[in-house]
Amino acid sequence: MRNVVLLASLWAAAAAHAAPDLAAAVEIAKGTGCYSCHAAAEKIVGPSFAAIAEKYAGDKEAVASLAQSIQMGSKGKWGRAAMPAHSSLSAQDLKLLARWVLSTKP
Ligand code: HEC
Repeated sequence: MRNVVLLASLWAAAAAHAAPDLAAAVEIAKGTGCYSCHAAAEKIVGPSFAAIAEKYAGDKEAVASLAQSIQMGSKGKWGRAAMPAHSSLSAQDLKLLARWVLSTKP
C-alpha cells in the first residue's frame, strides 16, 4: 500500500517538477538507517551523497546501478569500507533512493 501511495506521489511530483519526491526518499532513508553511514555533504562511513551524485553525473545507468548497490551492498568502489545489503527495500524505494542520492547538490 505504501508503495502505491509512493508511486502515485512520485508521478505527481514528476508531472509537477520533473523531480522525484524527495521528501518521501528522506523518510525512507531515515527509516532504513542510511544516515548512520552517510550525510549529504560529508563522508562518514560511506561517501557523501553529494560526492556520489558528482561521480555518477551524466551516467544514464546510474539510477539502476545505484539501486542495485543499495539493494545488494557495495564494496571496493569508494574505499575500504563496505555497504551492507538492504534487501528488504522494494524496487520502487530503491529507485527513489537512487534518484534522491543523485539529485544531491554539493
Ligand atoms: C553500514 C554503513 C552504511 C549504511 C547503513 C548505508 N551505506 Fe551506503 N555506502 C556505505 C559505504 C561504505 C559505501 C561505499 C561502498 C564502496 O566502496 O563500494 C556506500 C556507498 C553507497 C552508494 C554508492 C554505491 C556505488 O555503487 O557507488 C550509495 C548510492 C549509497 N551508499 C546509498 C545508501 C543508502 C540510500 C542507504 C540506506 C538505504 C545506505 N547507503 C546505507 C556505507 C553504508
